[in-house]
This record gives sequence, C-alpha cells and structure tokens, in this order.
Amino acid sequence: MKVVAGSASLALGKELARALKANLVDVAFEKHAGGFPDGERYVRLLGSVAGDHVVLVQSTYPDQKIVELFLLQDALVEAGARKVTLVIPYFGYGRQDKRFEEGEPVSARALARRLQLHADTVFTVSVHNPEVLGFFEIPAKDVSGMPTVARYLQGRDIDLVLAPDENAERFAREVGTSLKTEWDFLEKRRIDSFTVEMKRKAMDVKGRHVAIVDDVISTGVTIATAAKMLREQGAKRVVAACVHGLFAANALTRLQACDEVVATDTLLSPATKVSVAPEIAAVLR
Ligand code: R5P
Repeated sequence: MKVVAGSASLALGKELARALKANLVDVAFEKHAGGFPDGERYVRLLGSVAGDHVVLVQSTYPDQKIVELFLLQDALVEAGARKVTLVIPYFGYGRQDKRFEEGEPVSARALARRLQLHADTVFTVSVHNPEVLGFFEIPAKDVSGMPTVARYLQGRDIDLVLAPDENAERFAREVGTSLKTEWDFLEKRRIDSFTVEMKRKAMDVKGRHVAIVDDVISTGVTIATAAKMLREQGAKRVVAACVHGLFAANALTRLQACDEVVATDTLLSPATKVSVAPEIAAVLR
C-alpha cells in the first residue's frame, strides 16, 4: 500500500502513511516555481505506483483542490496504479445534499459521480449527511471524526458536552459517551449565514467546563452564539471542538467568545490540534 496526498491534505497524508507503515509518494504541485501564471493546477507523481494499491488523500475544499484531485486520479491511472482507495477527509459540497429549490443541482451527487470514475472505494470523514455516500456507485463508508475530538478532549476536565443543535446531537452523544460525561444539545434556528438564534435551555452549566462539539465550523456564528449564551448562564470554560474547521469569514475572531478552539487535520488551520489519521488507518488496515 502507498499513500499519495493532494496539497489540501499533505500533513494528514504523512500521518496516515506513518500509521499504515506505508510509503508516502511525493508529488510536485508546480511545474515551475510559482505555479502557472493563470492559476491552473498541476501535479506530478515523483515515485512509482505501478501495480500498487494507492490510498489517495485529498479534501475537496477549496474548489481548486477538487481539480487537483481529478488530476491526481488521472495521474494514478496513467502511472498504472492497481487499485485506488480514495480518502476524502473533508467532503466539500456535502451540505448541498438535495435540491432545496427548483433549478438547483444536487452538488454532493455531482461530485460523487465524477470522483468515483477513478476510485475503487471511497472513505469520507464525518460527512455532513451520511446519506450522500449513496451517491457513489462504488463502496463508500464514512469514518467518524468524533473519536478524534474525544481523544483531544480526554483529560482536559470537560464535564459537559453540548451539541449546538438537534442535528448534532449524535456528535455530543458520541463524544460524551467516550469521555463518560454528561451530554445534551441546544436548540438553534438559523436565520441566515451570519445569524442564528439559540433558545435558552434550562441546564446546569454554572461553574462547569463545557465542550461544544460539531462536525463543521464555518463562520463560527453557531458556536460563538452558543458560547455567549453559556457564559451568560455561568459556564466557567467553553471549548469549541469540531472535525472540520473551515473558519470562513473571520470565524476565528468570532470564536474568541470561546476559551479554546480545536479542529482536526481534515482541514489545516491555526486550530488544528489533533489528527484523524489513527481513525482512518484503523478502517484501511
Ligand atoms: C450545520 O448543520 C453544521 O453542522 C454546522 O452547525 C454549521 O455548518 C456551522 O456553521 P457556522 O459555523 O457558519 O455557524
């Protein structure tokens, strides 16, 4: 088994290769220093993959990384890889999992249909809606990133785990159960991308160390609103923990409402503090 990582997932690819005791095949991402003047992507495999089972790792965010992934898949076919296991740590476009309005695409399906063309199996990590795996016509499985989040929070004095909304309840349950702490969920109503309303819930948070867990933090509005409410209710410490830290539109500034922000390495950011590599390696072995 060999590991090839796209430029969105280099650090994770390295960790994964180490966990799998597999060789990491180097990739060049520029033909000439500085890249193409028009911004087009470029890849070149710097090692042999002929006849090999290759684990190809690349998050589909931001958009240019999707093109890079297509190029890497084509390069693997050209180079004679025997089998390609595609690992998509953050499956961008996973939230457009249906046609919400007339005339829209099912973006997650559009991506799945194209990505499966040069892959034998696909793994995602904490995909927003696991039903999108049904869009792949090859074996597809999701690996939860919550054990990774729980591993980071272990021994950090968390005594309550909260999900910011009912949809994320399963995340709080998973992390809370693993930490053997109490868990619950908040009630959120989204007004628009930058506005959410949190309903006050009768909860014992006074003087407690609370972790708010979610799959994705995008603008940070959800978590920051929850953190402010929890502080008003007397929480002593609020930690925001997610699998995928998109941190769009100055999210990290907004998240100063929290004592700490933690994300995994499905996307790299200043909040990346723990790797999902052990959890991915466990399903690949
Ligand atoms: C939504 O369903 C997701 O689980 C997250 O709660 C959401 O994407 C967070 O978005 P934001 O950080 O922009 O509030």
